[in-house]
Amino acid sequence: MKHLTGIGALSDEDITEILSRTLVWDAALETREGLGAPLKGRLLFNLFYENSTRTSLSFQVAATRMGADVISVPVAASSVHKGESLKDTVLTLCAQGADFMVLRASGAGTIETACKAMATFGYPTSVINAGEGAFGHPTQGLLDAATLLKATGRSLSEGLRGLTVAIVGDLLHSRVAASTAPLLARLGAEVRYCGPEAMLPQGDMPGVAMLTTDRAEALAGADVVMALRIQMERLEDGITIDPVDYRRSYGLTREALSHAKPNVFVMHPGPMNRGVEIDTDVADDQARSLILSQVAMGVPTRMAVLEFAAAL
Ligand code: CP
Repeated sequence: MKHLTGIGALSDEDITEILSRTLVWDAALETREGLGAPLKGRLLFNLFYENSTRTSLSFQVAATRMGADVISVPVAASSVHKGESLKDTVLTLCAQGADFMVLRASGAGTIETACKAMATFGYPTSVINAGEGAFGHPTQGLLDAATLLKATGRSLSEGLRGLTVAIVGDLLHSRVAASTAPLLARLGAEVRYCGPEAMLPQGDMPGVAMLTTDRAEALAGADVVMALRIQMERLEDGITIDPVDYRRSYGLTREALSHAKPNVFVMHPGPMNRGVEIDTDVADDQARSLILSQVAMGVPTRMAVLEFAAAL
């Protein structure tokens, strides 16, 4: 069993393997053929300390499609609220036979804490990072890359070379940007960051070709534009956002998209604040929007990740 802690921990060969298996599982899900039950008898715990719709459910769907048993830990009703530590909760699930632990938590280092606790006690459980604070969300990065490969009809060997991807919004607090941007850059895309000064990382960002507060500059000639949610829960004291001002300067509106290529693809990891970072007519434009394709790709991506983690 292998852990999936972050994009940076994956080799180029790992990424190629996971993305190629994602596209195979995607085709199998469409035809309902060749699914089999490769994880029959395996036990997956979803342990989410933060809310989730897409990630938690897609891991459940993925594992169920592969024949595994799936249990979602009811964190709000668990002994976490009697003060039980992450380490003790993780060890409890391991002792109950967890093969996979899909973990979402807010604190830096929580994934590492879980991996260390298991190693200390000799449990072979695979930890899969399902979103760690603002630090990373590797399976989101993988599903975003797979969605773009499919939408553009590119092979894995072509990668995303020649594509310009503008990511607009709260980049400083976004775990999606922390995983998606470096992965898309590794696959050859030109990645641009755009947001208000207070939501842009400082200094050079490896793999990021442009850091700007100017939406028109970021979107100029872009093939793909991804909007990010303002992470209200992670904003430092003193940062206030007026939704109307924000939309005017950073929202994905029809007018804003006029700076991008005419056939630009629109992405958003969800959940969306419609009318703030993205307008409804843009989000629901079926010719351009990949938002539901991203959600759909979440299932085969997590199937490929479980297969990778189980070293099948
Ligand atoms: N994209 C994403 O992680 O969505 P959820 O928070 O609903 O899982």
